[in-house]
Amino acid sequence: MKISLFGTGYVGLVTGACFAEVGNEVLCMDVDQTKIELLQQGKMPIYEPGLEEMVQENVAAGRLAFTTDAKAAVEHGLFQFIAVGTPPDEDGSADLQHVLAVADTIGAHMTDYRILVDKSTVPVGTADKVAERVRRALQARGVDYEFDVVSNPEFLKEGAAIEDFMRPDRIVVGTDNPRTTELLRVLYSPFNRNRDRLIAMDIRSAELTKYAANAMLATKISFMNELANLAERLGADIEQVRNGIGSDSRIGYAFIYPGCGYGGSCFPKDVSALEQTASNAGYRPRLLEAVRAVNREQHRLLFKKIHSHYGGDLAGRTFALWGLAFKPNTDDMREAPSRSLMESLWQAGAKVRAYDPAAMAEARRLYAGRADLSLAKNPEEALQGADALVVVTEWRVFRSPDFQRIRSLLKEPLIFDGRNLYDPRQLQAKGFLYYGIGRGLPSPQPQG
Ligand SMILES: NC(=O)c1ccc[n+]([C@@H]2O[C@H](COP(=O)([O-])OP(=O)(O)OC[C@H]3O[C@@H](n4cnc5c(N)ncnc54)[C@H](O)[C@@H]3O)[C@@H](O)[C@H]2O)c1
Repeated sequence: MKISLFGTGYVGLVTGACFAEVGNEVLCMDVDQTKIELLQQGKMPIYEPGLEEMVQENVAAGRLAFTTDAKAAVEHGLFQFIAVGTPPDEDGSADLQHVLAVADTIGAHMTDYRILVDKSTVPVGTADKVAERVRRALQARGVDYEFDVVSNPEFLKEGAAIEDFMRPDRIVVGTDNPRTTELLRVLYSPFNRNRDRLIAMDIRSAELTKYAANAMLATKISFMNELANLAERLGADIEQVRNGIGSDSRIGYAFIYPGCGYGGSCFPKDVSALEQTASNAGYRPRLLEAVRAVNREQHRLLFKKIHSHYGGDLAGRTFALWGLAFKPNTDDMREAPSRSLMESLWQAGAKVRAYDPAAMAEARRLYAGRADLSLAKNPEEALQGADALVVVTEWRVFRSPDFQRIRSLLKEPLIFDGRNLYDPRQLQAKGFLYYGIGRGLPSPQPQG
């Protein structure tokens, strides 16, 4: 099948590569010329495990191509996927300008039936707006072609995006036209082989499903962070509590890790956008407000712990930061807890020496020329001469470090662990002062 894809970011590029991988002819279009030139040279604008090889193989096989030519993209595919960004507007609602610009482009160039498939995360009612924009563009041209708009929200996770796309838990397809649902079923059949994962529904429900999923996951995280803060005050260890509740199959272990807050390009903006959608609909979403408020405080927690440890005297100190990306296996630093932490440390006059396995280029781009940030080549280099280590992202490479070496490189043996990677008792035994999240009392000594 012929597929066109607008937007070659984390979602668009993975979607394009995966559709090409199963034999489709995919043309990816982006307005960012630098990105397209990089892709045409076989280089990746983002870090995503396995993506580079997949893109290169499919380009070489002639199934995947990149362009800035919007007209060519509209002509190419029966399916016109929209995977452009929907960043937060000033009031927290989703900014639809890029989505609607793609609708205008498709309306301006289509010369035959087209199926517009919206993969971007968009508020309920957006499909109607997209259809209206296409209709208006066709009217302005004095032509009348048939088209359908489908909501097909994406659930992939950065860092495991290819695996998620290739073996999805579900494929949500929102349409008002059963014929279009069947076309999407055929398109997705290679990812749907051992059982039918396609869930067909009406468009508005599909649009809301994406927000519901992200808001639920964000709620689990904020709930656990709130309990961690309580555990700390009650002298309980949240990690033991996590084990205690995760074993309940109704609760499960996923998304109940306490930490320094959720970030990334999705949860923060999607919770805000859903709040905005709710208030536009005349409903006050109290739970979502609380989820966001808890997360905002959690982003400040590591800084507060550091600040209080030093009695507010942070000027001239240097902190080694392990982890810049908002989570492991990605280079994405949008809304990352590392950013709020670094910015607070800088404001207090401290310096940062940071290391991240994938996000160094992104950090350089965001904070180019800052004298109070140095980017280390490896985890050890970040530690050299630093006052303390602060763990912000739970990359695997940070999970079992050489603590003796850490001790020898830091000015004093002090760790602020924003992801509860380490065992407080072990670190105490090794002579470290350790701050975790929600670990009120040292764990009891094992019996026997
Ligand atoms: N990143 C994720 O993990 C994830 C997961 C699920 C859903 N989503 C949603 O998918 C959408 C895309 O997210 P992303 O992280 O891939 O965004 P991104 O910012 O990485 O990429 C968006 C791309 O769209 C391009 N673009 C903007 N206007 C365009 C236009 N008119 N025509 C063609 N290209 C245009 C930009 O240049 C950019 O390359 C968002 O709505 C997001 O909420 C993201």
